[in-house]
Amino acid sequence: MLTVGVLGAGQIGSAIAKIVSESGRYRVVASRRNILKIRDLEALGVELTQDNKELASRSDIVIVSVKPHKVVDVLREVSEYLDGKIVISVAAAIPIRSLVEAAPRAKIVRAMPNIAILVKGSFTAYSIGPGLGEEDVRKVEELFKLMGECIEVDEELMDAITALSGSGPAYVSTLIEAMAYAGLKVGLPRELAYYSAAYTVYGSAKLYLETRLHPSIIKEMVLTPAGVTVEGIFYLEEGGIRTAVMKAVEAATKRAREIAERLNKK
Ligand SMILES: NC(=O)c1ccc[n+]([C@@H]2O[C@H](COP(=O)([O-])OP(=O)(O)OC[C@H]3O[C@@H](n4cnc5c(N)ncnc54)[C@H](OP(=O)(O)O)[C@@H]3O)[C@@H](O)[C@H]2O)c1
Repeated sequence: MLTVGVLGAGQIGSAIAKIVSESGRYRVVASRRNILKIRDLEALGVELTQDNKELASRSDIVIVSVKPHKVVDVLREVSEYLDGKIVISVAAAIPIRSLVEAAPRAKIVRAMPNIAILVKGSFTAYSIGPGLGEEDVRKVEELFKLMGECIEVDEELMDAITALSGSGPAYVSTLIEAMAYAGLKVGLPRELAYYSAAYTVYGSAKLYLETRLHPSIIKEMVLTPAGVTVEGIFYLEEGGIRTAVMKAVEAATKRAREIAERLNKK
């Protein structure tokens, strides 16, 4: 059985440790400085340590999930224990080049999941660094598939991916909140307003993913002349919903690039 080490078990890392451990297919070790905060993982069979070196030496695959500005330092700290091991960084903005410099003998993968990992609904994009063979890539995919959907992409797309699907749950949650507010405004009970808004977003995404009908076709299926939906769409278009989303993702991509430049200048 392979041992997966989660170095930096915070929000994302704890979710990864939980999912991987619950699969029953791996031994899992997780680290952070304040392990009292993740005591609940122990009940799921995750071993906890404050010692990153111990974690690295015991693991076959290491997932680094500390904040981006700490990634290079923690990798350097444990580098000598990573000989030939797969190391997956889920940090935004840190390129494979810097990860390889910090841990030259590791097999590096850069990934961008999102917070829906908490419910195994992450969209995870990943880029493979030098030195990984087919078998290594298979192991990486097997891990990501436990967490939701995963797709390999060119690393140059990673900042845009970070801005679209990495940050995406925040945009979609804003939409759900807006729809729920709208429900409250027209008199729906609170619970019903939030539940109906969220389930409608879920169902619409499922409809697209399972049929691959273009979103404009799905929209046409709901629009009737002089009907209810077109009345609503008129105001969404007037409010510039599409340009607002496009500007948001474009600005977030620019910000991801700025952060990457700043962090990788050092
Ligand atoms: N949040 C998201 O939606 C999201 C989405 C995609 C990718 N990411 C990426 O995931 C990474 C983690 O994000 P997060 O939101 O999970 O942050 P987080 O909750 O702050 O988790 C980071 C964890 O690292 C631990 N840590 C800090 N220094 C450490 C050290 N020297 N050794 C071991 N552990 C250490 C911290 O715990 P202690 O202070 O107790 O050590 C903390 O729990 C980031 O790089 C981010 O770019 C996040």
